[in-house]
Order: sequence, then C-alpha cells, then structure tokens
Amino acid sequence: MSSKSSPPIADRLKDIQPFHVMALLGRARELEAQGKSIIHMEIGEPDFVTAQPIIDAGIKALQAGQTHYTPTMGLPALREAISQYYQSHYDVDVPAHRIAITPGASGALQLIFSVLINPGDAVVLADPGYPCNRHFVRLNEGETIAAQVGAESRYQLTADILKDSWTSNTVAAMLASPSNPTGTIVTADELKAMHAFVSSKNGSLVVDEIYHGLTYDEKAETALSVADDIFIVNSFSKYFGMTGWRLGWLVVPEPYVDAVDRLAQNIFLAAPTLAQHAALAAFKPETIKQLDQCRDEFAARRDYLLAALQEIGFDIPVTPDGAFYLYANCEKFSSDSYQFVSDLLEKAGVAITPGIDFGDHAAHKHVRFAYTTNLENLREGVRRIADFIST
Ligand SMILES: Cc1ncc(COP(=O)(O)O)c(C=O)c1O
Repeated sequence: MSSKSSPPIADRLKDIQPFHVMALLGRARELEAQGKSIIHMEIGEPDFVTAQPIIDAGIKALQAGQTHYTPTMGLPALREAISQYYQSHYDVDVPAHRIAITPGASGALQLIFSVLINPGDAVVLADPGYPCNRHFVRLNEGETIAAQVGAESRYQLTADILKDSWTSNTVAAMLASPSNPTGTIVTADELKAMHAFVSSKNGSLVVDEIYHGLTYDEKAETALSVADDIFIVNSFSKYFGMTGWRLGWLVVPEPYVDAVDRLAQNIFLAAPTLAQHAALAAFKPETIKQLDQCRDEFAARRDYLLAALQEIGFDIPVTPDGAFYLYANCEKFSSDSYQFVSDLLEKAGVAITPGIDFGDHAAHKHVRFAYTTNLENLREGVRRIADFIST
C-alpha cells in the first residue's frame, strides 16, 4: 500500500543543496534537443579526452584481467609514483605510506571530514568556495563557518581572516589553491601564517590542490613545502584529465594514517582498480608533455576570455592564477545573477554558473565562467553575451 506522507529521509538531507548549475545544464540539454545552439561555459571539467598513454594503460590492464580490488590505500606502485612526483615536481619528501588513493578528490574530502569532525565541531571555509565541502561537513554533523573572502585577499583565506572566524568549537580550516570558483592561489607566506595560527589552536589545515598543474603564470607550490602535517587533497580529474575515471588522492599526516585506512576500508574498500592501473601512465614523460600542451591551451583561453569579458563590462578585479574559471561581477547588468544566468541561457544560448552555487557572500552579484571549451566557442560565447547585454 502506498503512503502519501513524505518518506523518512534523514533531517541532515534538508541541508544538502543541489548544484543549481546541474538544473541549468539539464535545461541547456533540453534546448539543444530542440535544435538550439548552446555554448557551454558552465562545465567544471576539461573538454580534452584523457591522454592516450593513460587510455592505453587502462586497456592493457583490462586485458590482463585487472578486475579485482586493490589494497584499500591503493596500488603500491601508484602510491610510489605519486610519492616520486612530489619529489621530482615539488622537491618535497612524501613517503608512499602517507598517500591514500581515493575515488576522486571527493573520496578524499569524505575521508578527511569524517576523520576530523565530531558532532558540533566547526570548520572554516572560504565563501565563495567549492560547495560540496560544507555538505561533507554537514554529513558528519559538523558546522561550517563561511568566511567571506573578496578581491582584497584575492578571494582566499588569510591568517587574519582565520583569527576572526575561529571559534571555540572550530577544529579545522580548509582552502583550495587554486580555488574554485576564483582560480587564485595562496602564497607560501600566507600559508605559513595560516598553518602557524591553526596549529596554535590545535586544529587541522586542509588544502585542496586539485587544480595544481593548471597554473598559468607560475607553478603552484604544494602546501607540504610549508609543513607535513597538512591534509592535502588532489586528484587525477583536472590536470590529468581523468574526471570520469574517478580517481584522486589524499596525503595524510602521519598520526591519521591508520584512521584513514580503517575508514576507507569501510566506506569504499578501494578506489577503482582500472583507473589506478591507467593512472600509472599519468606520470610518464610523454603523458606529461601532452598534459602540459592542454595546460598551455587553457592559458591561452584564460588570456582571451579575461580580456574579452572585461572589455564588454564584467568586473574581474583579480587575474586568476589557474584552474579554468573566471569569477566575474555582473552587477552592471543585473542585481540577480541567477536570473541573469537563466536569461543568458534562454535568450542568448550561453550557459554559465550563478554565484549562488559557491556560497552566500555577494553571490547574487557574481557568475562563474568556465573556459572548458575551445577558443572558437569562447569567441562565439562572448559575441552572444555582448549582443545580449546590449539589448
Ligand atoms: C575544488 C574542488 N575540489 C574537489 C573536486 C572534486 O573532484 P573529483 O572529480 O576529483 O572528485 C572539485 C570538482 O570540481 C573541485 O572543483
């Protein structure tokens, strides 16, 4: 017998917001199905197909029957390869036993917040920032402290902001460098100051480095060069172009290794085996060469789009250092960025992301452009936006 009352879904789900951009993407697909042309500047993943050496390694692994679980913390050879990458790329010593292979950076985030949070504990996060973080905190019955960040701090947390935000129940602070949605990186000096402050409070610092490799003016240094008790999130999704393979990693401070291992054994047993074998090819020189070419293409797109959007009147006060996003103030055209984004999609056929997906702070004045489509499409997108705002 069916009941009309609402199903007994746990209360915490009331606080889990959808990604508004997914609804917009759904609408964009509908419009495309009706034959309309849409320029996609909302999608947060590289448009390039995974590099061929990685695909080949995946095929070879499948043919060799690599279809079973790996150890929970990951394939020893992959953990070793990542450890060597820290050595060769950053000149930082990270022993392989502190590297946990996870189902995407998302798996790493789930582990970190479950390991750190007791009910009622608080975590300081940047607003605007990557929205899933606050939901991971909520799933663990924690609270988030949304620290408002703006152009004056290059949209990043600082030690002073942390001092102002920290409360007696705060256990951690988290930032992403480069950040989503703003693309800015945190300087080593600021990281040092934040680490010193968080340590003085006996808290944990979590740094999401998922957009490393995609910086255009200077190389981003890992926060591990500041201290080795920082939780580092990273992934094969972005620079390595493997979003759909669902593979990331977590660098775990030594005292937490056993807890992370036990938790991962229970939550997901192991990251996808096929993806792990494929990722062994990610660090080969020929792969890195291809990935760096993609990075150079992103750099050219950033340079074009930044100048073009500024020229038509968007305010982008801070040049993003990396990732593939531009976070722009659209106040000149609308006081409601969600409405602006909907109108732009319906009337001009351009899909972008509203500020509301990244927090509350000045969200109605901002939109995010993703340059995850080729230069020709970006030029057409800008032409359509210019027409739209001039009418
Ligand atoms: C800042 C940030 N962290 C984590 C993730 C999750 O990535 P993954 O595909 O590795 O789970 C994303 C995805 O867009 C992101 O932007």
